[in-house]
Amino acid sequence: MSITINSKLPAVGTTIFTVIGELANRHQAINLGQGFPDFSAPQALLERVDHHIRQGHNQYAPMAGVARLREAIAAKIEQSYGRPVSADREVTVTPGATVALYCAITACVRPGDEVIVFDPAYDSYEPAIELSGGRAVHLPLLPPAFAVDWQRVKDAITPRTRMIILNSPHNPTGATLLAEDLATLAELVRDTDILLLSDEVYEHLVYDGVTHQSLLQHDELAARAFVVFSFGKTYHVTGWKTGYCIAPAALTAELRKVHQYVTFVAVTPIQLALADFMQSCPQHHQQLAAFYQRKRDLFCEQMAGSRFHFSPAKGTFFQLMDYSEISDQEDLAMAEWLTREQGVAAIPVSVFYEEPPAARYVRFCFAKEDETLIRAAELLCRI
Ligand SMILES: Cc1ncc(COP(=O)(O)O)c(C=O)c1O
Repeated sequence: MSITINSKLPAVGTTIFTVIGELANRHQAINLGQGFPDFSAPQALLERVDHHIRQGHNQYAPMAGVARLREAIAAKIEQSYGRPVSADREVTVTPGATVALYCAITACVRPGDEVIVFDPAYDSYEPAIELSGGRAVHLPLLPPAFAVDWQRVKDAITPRTRMIILNSPHNPTGATLLAEDLATLAELVRDTDILLLSDEVYEHLVYDGVTHQSLLQHDELAARAFVVFSFGKTYHVTGWKTGYCIAPAALTAELRKVHQYVTFVAVTPIQLALADFMQSCPQHHQQLAAFYQRKRDLFCEQMAGSRFHFSPAKGTFFQLMDYSEISDQEDLAMAEWLTREQGVAAIPVSVFYEEPPAARYVRFCFAKEDETLIRAAELLCRI
């Protein structure tokens, strides 16, 4: 007997990260595709995981997260963004930012609701919206600045708009929202029931003396926002898949209703280790911008002699490069060619757009050892 599977996500295939990652492995290319560091997390943090596993802290954590970790997060939020938040009622630890995003969308979006997303958009947003029966309304961020066109946002808002998803610093473009953007957003959503989902996983990776503008710094916006962060990006441990969501108590209560049935909890010894490390090394995240800015600058300096065109990323650990002087092939074909023939894996940007602009960009990740970046740039400069 054969069964008919009527896919709920018919348009979804294998993610580009998997496709390019496999191609990179097959051709032994330097992988500047997927966003993950090729260097170690701080030893002291690794040791704490080992410690807690050996101490027998291997059973379920509390549903909202280990209390000590939620308290450390609340303290960090207050210190970074000046907002006191309740560790009990407003902080939820999740298995990665991805799960926090999924839970926030699932908790709030109903069939027929519209959710505004900005393209190029991180790939996990739309499937979550669709699984909830909602519709993603795509608004483009256009090169070279990739800034939000607020007039288009205003025009796109309808009585069905349930949520707007923001991502700053932005993957893949590195663009960052400014205080003026947040002020305009506040005007647009005032007197509506529109919720905000703010993906701020690259909060500490903002360069050239600029500081991250969190929705948590803005009273009106924070009152209607889920703000999502990732330990993976901040502590160089993307594989630990541990993140958290800050939201007002009423929104947190709804998010937790989903979280408790999606995964129930995040991993216990990892949470305990992160709590220890946040306490013993509070300065870690304060050095991140300088650490990654140096890597960005190294990569850009090394690429100066290439035929790629770029302006240094304002944030994140991604650098977009315009390859129009080198080739007029589509960016997916270009990324595959770079991986297969030139030995450096990159991610095409068009896959994050509903309607890609004409410009030709690929994305490189510079969260890599200096030698990796130098070797990759050498290969790319030969093209
Ligand atoms: C913009 C953005 N949001 C969310 C995530 C997911 O974070 P996590 O690995 O903590 O689930 C990523 C990871 O690449 C990302 O780039």
